[in-house]
Amino acid sequence: MRVLSGIQPTGRFHWGNYFGAIRQYIALQENEQAFYFIADLHALTTIRSADELAGFVRDAAIDLLALGLNPEQARLFRQSDVPEIPELTWLLMTLTQMHLLEKCHAYKDKKEKGLAADAGLFTYPVLMAADIILYDSNVVPVGLDQVQHIEVTRDVAGRFNHVYGQEVFVLPEARVLDATAKVPGTDGEKMSKSYGNTIPIFDTPKRLRKKIMSIKTDSTPVEDPKDPDGCAVFTLYKLFSTPEQQEELAARYRAGGMGYGEAKQTLYEAAMEHFAEAFERRAQLEANPSEVEDVLQAGAKAAREKGREVLDRARHACGLSRRP
Ligand code: TYM
Repeated sequence: MRVLSGIQPTGRFHWGNYFGAIRQYIALQENEQAFYFIADLHALTTIRSADELAGFVRDAAIDLLALGLNPEQARLFRQSDVPEIPELTWLLMTLTQMHLLEKCHAYKDKKEKGLAADAGLFTYPVLMAADIILYDSNVVPVGLDQVQHIEVTRDVAGRFNHVYGQEVFVLPEARVLDATAKVPGTDGEKMSKSYGNTIPIFDTPKRLRKKIMSIKTDSTPVEDPKDPDGCAVFTLYKLFSTPEQQEELAARYRAGGMGYGEAKQTLYEAAMEHFAEAFERRAQLEANPSEVEDVLQAGAKAAREKGREVLDRARHACGLSRRP
């Protein structure tokens, strides 16, 4: 089985990225062939400052390695280091129906708000389809918001196979875990950079605590019993804790006498403990930029080798590169 996933360097990674995706990347790297990449070509549709983008890409690589992505097991690379991706994107684009892309949420949301969308945003899901099928990937670990794009991928890849009458591409499956499909942000809505409700993984303890303290709760007085279910603080705490720890905090909610501030403090401590090792590893990696670059280069080399094979198959199927 080949696992593949990508993540956009459009800001610092947050808990939604971690629990929805990165933790799965790490869990799957041990037993499966895994390819993970930093989607810098996708990020170009939102980040318009070269220095900012370069900084986010660098941070993304360091963060992923610090969080436990192991380059001995998984390949990590930059999307833009694999020129086979844009080439395959074009082949797929010629078979992608407009109505499929018109339904995709990033474009649709922008259009509904009356904002001008560019061709990059509109065709973004085709680039994503190429990302996935270029390596014969079977499984794509993602959060719920990416499932629609994987459906587009299956549609386009299936159409290519059908039109050219060959099983050129493997059709991938999304892998979404129920418990982490949609991690809530500080306002209880889906955690997302575009909603400004994220809790970053790496920040100063002071700023992280402040973020956690800003999570929206209802106005039940301290002494009253509270319902843990539906409280964003408790939902987030569940991600960091064992069933026994969850039961313990749930009992304190129900008993009354505990304010939300205390629950938030418990969440803060659990998060700091969970990420303590990653913070240390991050500091070491930051001091060794060439080590990080070597990982990305080796990852790109391996990705290109596999990608070339699949791209050649696709070129041949549609009549390109046939020499007399
Ligand atoms: P991106 O960069 O927005 O998000 C990266 C991953 O984090 C997940 N995620 C969440 N999961 C649960 N709850 C949340 N609140 C939450 N917020 C983010 C996303 O579902 C995703 O898995 N288009 C992709 C990047 C991409 C890609 C690919 C992914 C490009 N090519 C090929 C898979 C395969 C994106 O924008 O993800």
